[in-house]
Amino acid sequence: MATQNQCETPWTAVPFMPERLSLPQLRDAAATCRGCDLYCNATQTVFGEGPRTASVMFVGEQPGDQEDKAGKPFVGPSGQLLDDALVEAGIERSEVYVTNAVKHFKFEPRGKRRIHSKPNSREIEACRPWLEAEIATVRPKLIVCLGATASQALMGKDFRITKEHGRVFRETEWAPAVVATSHPSAILRAPDPEARHRAYGQFLDDLRVVRAEMARVTREQADASAERKKMQVRREMHPGTEDRAGAAAEKARPNGAAPIRRRKNSKVGRQAE
Ligand code: URA
Repeated sequence: MATQNQCETPWTAVPFMPERLSLPQLRDAAATCRGCDLYCNATQTVFGEGPRTASVMFVGEQPGDQEDKAGKPFVGPSGQLLDDALVEAGIERSEVYVTNAVKHFKFEPRGKRRIHSKPNSREIEACRPWLEAEIATVRPKLIVCLGATASQALMGKDFRITKEHGRVFRETEWAPAVVATSHPSAILRAPDPEARHRAYGQFLDDLRVVRAEMARVTREQADASAERKKMQVRREMHPGTEDRAGAAAEKARPNGAAPIRRRKNSKVGRQAE
């Protein structure tokens, strides 16, 4: 096994990005990412998972020991806690997209164990193109940041989860809504059962905010769909009387494609337009 920093890397995932932004192509390309030196010691890239059409994306920090072995996000103890809390909050995990800010496991070997080590800002920045590409492809209506690393990666270095957890930030550069909450591992690390119980309760409260926001998005989508159907019926009943606003919108968006929301100076997302 190579030791950390032995590997020559460009410190960005950009050279590894595929031509086209689709989840299967992104996943394949990310598998060979050498954008930072974390690939040297990790078993494999752990890319995000979930439906391409998910309206909600959960973003964690980085895969842990079990995720590194399985190649899937949130399947270890943190994933178990997340799954339990999602059930309690009434959120279907199979309906959400789950990923991490950093796609390789960073750890310190201690005997036979591999102890989680927090990714630094250079590693988070190098890995950011993958997260940006996932967001540009899935186009979630709501992003849920789990813990400080994900929150600060998306909401800026000054973001404080202790202060802002459970709040809905609207019209962000990433998605129409962003909510931050604790990382499940912080709950598992609580110093005593009482603190853990409190932290879990707060986590659940935040997930209920997410659930309410998901219900709002679903209602909005249903309303928009009903409105589209109404317009369709109107067009069929009165052929030739095209709705001007609708026609103008169609012209601006050939094939009905929604415009890509791109972050200022983003290095990805251009191909998808
Ligand atoms: N912690 C994370 O942030 N992500 C995982 O996938 C597992 C643990």
